Amino acid sequence: MDFDILPFSGSARRKLSRRAFLAGSAALATVARALAAARPLAPDPHIEDLLRRMTLEEKAAQLSIFRSPISSAAINPQGRREPTREDAMEDVRRGLAAGYFNGFDIAFNRELQRIAVEESRLRIPLIFAADVIHGLKTTYPIPLGEAASFDPELCRRTARAAAEEASAFGLHWTFAPAIDVARDERWGRVLEGAGEDSWLGARIAAARVRGFQGDDLRADDSLLACPKHFAGYGGVEGGMEYNTVDIPETELRQVHLPPFKAAFDAGALSTMTAFNDIAGVPCTANRRLLTEILRGEWRFRGLVVSDFQSVRELIDHGYAADEADAVVKALDAGCDVALGDDIYRRHIPALVRKRRLAEAKVNESARRVLRVKKALGLFENPYRSLDPDRRKYVVRRPDMVALAREAARKSIVLLKNKNDLLPLPRTGKSLAFIGPYVPDTAQALGAWALDGEPERAVSLEQGVRAALGPGAPCSFTRGCAPEDAIPGGVEAAVRAVQDADVAVLYLGEPERMSGESASTTSIVIPPCQQDLAEAVAATGKPLVVILKHGRALALSGAVRAADAILCSWFLGSESGNALADLLFGDFSPQGRLPVSFPQASGQEPFYYDHRSTGRPQSDAIAAFKARYTEVSNEPLFAFGHGLTYSTVEYGETLVSAPRPTRNRVVKISAQLLNKGRRAAHETAQLYVHERVAAITQPVRQLKGVQHVELAPGEAKMVEFTLRLPDLAHVHGNLADRADHGAYDVWIAPSAISGRKATFFLA
Ligand code: BGC
Repeated sequence: MDFDILPFSGSARRKLSRRAFLAGSAALATVARALAAARPLAPDPHIEDLLRRMTLEEKAAQLSIFRSPISSAAINPQGRREPTREDAMEDVRRGLAAGYFNGFDIAFNRELQRIAVEESRLRIPLIFAADVIHGLKTTYPIPLGEAASFDPELCRRTARAAAEEASAFGLHWTFAPAIDVARDERWGRVLEGAGEDSWLGARIAAARVRGFQGDDLRADDSLLACPKHFAGYGGVEGGMEYNTVDIPETELRQVHLPPFKAAFDAGALSTMTAFNDIAGVPCTANRRLLTEILRGEWRFRGLVVSDFQSVRELIDHGYAADEADAVVKALDAGCDVALGDDIYRRHIPALVRKRRLAEAKVNESARRVLRVKKALGLFENPYRSLDPDRRKYVVRRPDMVALAREAARKSIVLLKNKNDLLPLPRTGKSLAFIGPYVPDTAQALGAWALDGEPERAVSLEQGVRAALGPGAPCSFTRGCAPEDAIPGGVEAAVRAVQDADVAVLYLGEPERMSGESASTTSIVIPPCQQDLAEAVAATGKPLVVILKHGRALALSGAVRAADAILCSWFLGSESGNALADLLFGDFSPQGRLPVSFPQASGQEPFYYDHRSTGRPQSDAIAAFKARYTEVSNEPLFAFGHGLTYSTVEYGETLVSAPRPTRNRVVKISAQLLNKGRRAAHETAQLYVHERVAAITQPVRQLKGVQHVELAPGEAKMVEFTLRLPDLAHVHGNLADRADHGAYDVWIAPSAISGRKATFFLA
């Protein structure tokens, strides 16, 4: 499968659905298509009529989405009183809310909708949103983990399944996918995105949007996607959450914006602003981003929602004097909706009356919200996704659980496998499973499984027991808690290992260490777990380490020295089964690292597609070169790295034309040979480097991925096609075009391997 070209543009894919046709609602489908295709929209008479009849208060309300009073997520940095159920019902009756988020009670949502369409003056339906990041009840691997599949189609399928399940809880809109390109593993939100690479991130972003939104945005089982956080959030200085960002626009466009552009081209009709500023201008009031680039250049026709209370935060940024000033600045810049805050609702009417805000501006934003509601089919069918019976057929459907297991298996990365220790034999050897996560499910899902069901997840112990059956010679010992020693824990673990042939340690970060507000200065295994690992390793028994983590880690001591290491992120509902599938060889590992593993925390930000310096470190470590004094610049495990249970050899990288002229298309190929005794799923990667450019280019950039199945002894050629746009980069004048000159290319199993070839673009 070759996915080096984005498969669909928004306009190509939005066909008039059969259901819409049969329902005779072709006009609505046209609106949805035009919104997605970014064609100029004809005025919608229904919406224009509504706008004429709406009061300023009602318009301002359409620009306000509130946290549901039944939400369990307690994020309220302002410490304000949260509205009650009764407050919400009264607001809806008075037409004072556009919608609610993170309320998973369908009966309550349905009642609110009934009040909106039966009792409010203008009968405008509500929209219900939630952070459905990697599933709802059936939980898939964290997005970073799933990105390790290097398989956008898998990401589309899990997003589709998540939409089917979440929409059965009365939801219309997910605040996902998070598509921030993140290169500093200290930042806790690395877990939400697709890792450090923009090219891969763009393919996965588009795939997730297509999955959430499905073929028909008005269908009961579709969710409006909300690519976030627009933009540059992954560039927070020092990896510190909510910190400032200072990246030039060339870099913003080359690295951080492509996943957004891809998501909008795939049809996403909403986006969320980022908390950070860029070069002193907060994203929530950033006209350059929200209006000039997003709407002007990209012709985006959807709505822009702020992040949680980020309009008010313009004051703390030092960008607005007070709430009214913040409202004017955010709305003027292009932020249509305030999230989790009544700041728009309270200030807009007075600001218009005082002529500090043009009513036309308010109308424009309200029009966008109403059009999106229309595109979702809410006017014609306000109770869409609010049928309580659907849950019976949809929640944890067997095919969803099977998909969760498939996704989990494909997300695991085999980093190291000395002496082919893995896969483990099912019989003949006794195994000691050690570590705080062995019997645990509380930490299985990951930080953004808001309404997940950890108690129904499969632990490693359960997965192993199911795989080996009763009476298998294995033991299960915690040894310590995730962040604390337990009395006698290490001793019990050591005894268990001494009685066994092989030790399997399941270690790493608990959920709370990654996600929002979870930046850290040190990306290491918690000390009590490291102590446990040292004691277990001291027994001298062969050691397998399974890592749990929401980011790349800096591994040390016994963990780093283990014979085999599996990187397993937070795998979701089917964790234990998926791990057992790999441990016992029912599935051969195929995941690849979407983030580079550094030698030490202090190297962050650490990513493969960095620029060369004037003093690059060569193979031999030398003084007066760009490096830290203590560690090599080589990653401990490189971006793209991941072993299979076989050995695949890469032949020479071949170019079809060393000086391509005709259409300037060049084909790059290489032979892959499976030299091992097992079948392998190999993930071949194409990297490119432009040698000389007016804005210097990264040492390598990913430009293509192919998944290849190889039987033992089998050889196959892989071939990639590079066209001019694939070689383009952003120039000083912000134009995106390819240069003449020399390009190095590699077909490789990771970002630091492969054999180089070169071609010259005349
Ligand atoms: C996060 C967003 C999220 C929102 C609503 C914010 O704190 O930054 O990603 O969508 O809360 O839950």
